[in-house]
Amino acid sequence: MHDIRNIVILTGAGISAESGLATFRGPDGLWEGHRVEDVCTPEALRRDAALVHRFYDERRAKLAEVAPNAAHEALAALDRAWPGDLLIVTQNVDDLHERAGAKRLLHMHGELKSALCAACGKAAAWEAAMPPGSVCGGCGKPRLRPDIVFFGEMPYEMDRIDAALREADLFVSIGTSGAVYPAAGFVQTARYVGARTLELNLDPSAGSIYFHETRIGPASELVPAFVADLLGD
Ligand code: APR
Repeated sequence: MHDIRNIVILTGAGISAESGLATFRGPDGLWEGHRVEDVCTPEALRRDAALVHRFYDERRAKLAEVAPNAAHEALAALDRAWPGDLLIVTQNVDDLHERAGAKRLLHMHGELKSALCAACGKAAAWEAAMPPGSVCGGCGKPRLRPDIVFFGEMPYEMDRIDAALREADLFVSIGTSGAVYPAAGFVQTARYVGARTLELNLDPSAGSIYFHETRIGPASELVPAFVADLLGD
């Protein structure tokens, strides 16, 4: 690869699939008969908060049964070793990147282990049971909800992500279908500033045509090979 100093890596549900976490747009694409687009919205939270909480309660419970896989481990090793700027932007709400040891990481779609007060905006750790109507420790209002960016809400840290993309020499997208913006558009920003772009995915994604290169296969194989290559092992 050409001279690379600054790297931005985008990850999606596919990187956690081999750890045993379901992707969002799987074969039937439904959860209890609902499309994710119908469950993960502010309207759904107003209409049926119990359903929305249950969707995320199930995902949170699953975290205790899974562990980071070779792809998470390889990215954490890259984070430790890489001397230039590096930012891992994950769309995932699981905690597998940080459990593998990644530090230069941000969760643009929120985190399962966090609760957000819809009244005052304060975030706090998710306690064992937080049904709809749980009270915020900050403002005292019964408005705690999962700290997840729903469809129609603005992802977190967009300024920081945009700044990193504009300095990037290399942009890598791993395990994401490219179905959801703004993440799906990061490759175009990276191309615009002249970065090299690489996709690692099990299937060609909706945005494959925008990448200089697409490698097809499981993340647990492709990501360690990519990292070894980059570090010159
Ligand atoms: N290795 C690599 N890629 C994989 C693997 C694997 N083992 N298994 C699946 N994939 C790929 C699939 O081919 C698919 O392209 O991962 C992608 C997963 O796509 P989605 O389920 O759409 O997940 P993601 O792109 O992360 O979704 C984006 O949508 O529902 C919202 O907010 C949610 O963050 C999520 C966003």
